[in-house]
Amino acid sequence: MKHIVKFINTNESFEIKESEYMLDALQAHKLDLPFSCGSGVCGACVMQVSGEVKWMSPNHCLSPGEVEDGFILPCICKAKESIEVLD
Ligand code: FES
Repeated sequence: MKHIVKFINTNESFEIKESEYMLDALQAHKLDLPFSCGSGVCGACVMQVSGEVKWMSPNHCLSPGEVEDGFILPCICKAKESIEVLD
């Protein structure tokens, strides 16, 4: 199954497979997103989104409040539906 990732600031969008890690999809589309550990530890890749994601590993750096506010770590998240990237 595929979903759409849309960047609110630039109005860019692309398709993402539900099986794909979001960071991999962003890099495949040549989007320059900072990252380091690739495993949910460093927080370098953090972004704020609207839309439901599936966390594939434990999050080691975001607080429950940040997650509630839509912050995700795309290196360990997959899209469960279409996603809008807010920041
Ligand atoms: S790259 Fe370290 S948390 Fe995503």
